Amino acid sequence: MSFRAKHLLGIEHLAPDEITALLDLADQYVDLNRRDVKHSEVLAGLTQINMFFENSTRTQASFELAGKRLGMDVMSMAMQASSVKKGETLIDTALTLNAMHPDLLVVRHPHSGAVNLLAEKVNCAVLNAGDGRHEHPTQALLDALTIRRAKGRLHRLSVAICGDIAHSRVARSNILLLGKMENRVRLVGPATLMPSGIAEFGVEVFEDMREGLEDVDVVMMLRLQKERMDGGFIPSEREYYHRYGLDPEKLSFAKDDAIVMHPGPMNRGVEIDGTLADDINRSVIQEQVEMGVAVRMAAMELLVRARRSSPREVLA
Ligand code: NCD
Repeated sequence: MSFRAKHLLGIEHLAPDEITALLDLADQYVDLNRRDVKHSEVLAGLTQINMFFENSTRTQASFELAGKRLGMDVMSMAMQASSVKKGETLIDTALTLNAMHPDLLVVRHPHSGAVNLLAEKVNCAVLNAGDGRHEHPTQALLDALTIRRAKGRLHRLSVAICGDIAHSRVARSNILLLGKMENRVRLVGPATLMPSGIAEFGVEVFEDMREGLEDVDVVMMLRLQKERMDGGFIPSEREYYHRYGLDPEKLSFAKDDAIVMHPGPMNRGVEIDGTLADDINRSVIQEQVEMGVAVRMAAMELLVRARRSSPREVLA
């Protein structure tokens, strides 16, 4: 089974068999990443450029390490110091870098749809590392791998995604992926943080944490995305923690073996209790970070392979 997509722009266009193939390959990269020598030559000689127009710690580091472990030359552009500051448009920047013949472009951008637009203008494979509130496909894939390894399967699970759903591309990509793999998704949060038209996604919506967490297998907490809010969404952080912050008492409504997830960065004491986040018996937050490198290695390998097998892209 190979990957049919030319780019990884979102979960929306991935088929269940492509998701499974990617996770199977990522499992192999988890083993490689646990060795002392973590190097493969699978993509040796290729060039990867990372363009992050928004702050990032784990996603950027993860993509950079993933590319290096596959043997690529990896360059992370310092977008804060680039010609973007001189007024160059996103597309001009992309065309300039495209002229240097990269094989993979990894892009994060604050505007939904910006990465799709860019993908139309360049010759190489583009990976979306998060665009506005739209999608963050590698996050959903690393979450899926974490769940599959912890629960032994990725179907017929009950998953609660909690908190600031409205501003979250992580929630959107996860809703799509978990739905495609036939899981039951519940969204839990205040009405002010629920996107409009959410019923179309085939999810159940709860305003009360205890009702929403009842008997779920997975509790996925989201960061309160203050930078995307213009005030008035929550009464106060204290009140928010009281009603929606995950603590042992609220978690006790989930299944006894339910796992706790968070994509990071965390606001401890706002959406999650710090001690619970660090409890290795319940929290898989560090595993999520570990799976992130493996999933990105698998995604990049599959995209390059898909292009090599396509007649239009054959290298002489
Ligand atoms: C997420 C993001 O940037 O969308 N973080 C991440 O990639 N690990 C979630 C967030 O910023 O809250």
